[in-house]
Amino acid sequence: MVWSPEAYAAHAAFVPALAAEVVALLAPRPGERILDLGCGDGALSARLAAGGADVVGLEPDPAMARAARARGLRVVEADAQQMAFGAEFDAVFSNAALHWMPDQQAVAAGVFRALRPGGRYVGECGGFLNIAAIRTAIRAVLAAAGHDPDAAPVQVFQTAGEFVARHEAAGFIDVEATLHQRVTPLPTGIRGWLAAFRAGFLDAAGVGPDAGEALVGRIEELLRPVLTDPQGQWFADYVRLRWQARKPH
Ligand code: BEZ
Repeated sequence: MVWSPEAYAAHAAFVPALAAEVVALLAPRPGERILDLGCGDGALSARLAAGGADVVGLEPDPAMARAARARGLRVVEADAQQMAFGAEFDAVFSNAALHWMPDQQAVAAGVFRALRPGGRYVGECGGFLNIAAIRTAIRAVLAAAGHDPDAAPVQVFQTAGEFVARHEAAGFIDVEATLHQRVTPLPTGIRGWLAAFRAGFLDAAGVGPDAGEALVGRIEELLRPVLTDPQGQWFADYVRLRWQARKPH
């Protein structure tokens, strides 16, 4: 997948903007070493760093990592499913990233290794039934146009129970996870959303920007009656999985 920091900033700035509750749950303290797993363009990492934390971003996409470094952040360009940190962070944080990682067991094991004893793991990502309507419309339109909807990388939308079981098995204690329905206004509509996230849906199915225009129009028309209010404002049917857990002393 190749991401566009420009499209993300133009159409998905609400992602870091809506992270106040999970940041409050993390409660970062000045001087703490915090790893931001899947930091993207670093908008949220920069907020953590502004509060005095010593933040390292982890981001596999080169363009996103560059955008995060341009904010003055330290970024390790690597996949969270293969990270090799050892007991060096007070906290690992993640927002809107874990659902892009098919090997959740590897992520849990890597986070556990990366934390100091007593360290905490706090985050939020798409949970069970996340963007169900959007995904259904994309799949239907891709299939009708002769594309394989399963060509896109697997996205993982876990239940709270699955998350808890997996992280307890990885050694974490005090694992708590909850699902929250969060109907989310889309400032630039479903077209903007698709522009920001096309890498994970259209590009991945072999649909380039030119061929994609007609398909985007069909997706928009399928979803308009479901995801707009009477004033024409677009919403996404987000469901967030929020968690906290600790590595034992
Ligand atoms: C999200 O839940 O943040 C999300 C999931 C898949 C694609 C885009 C966004």
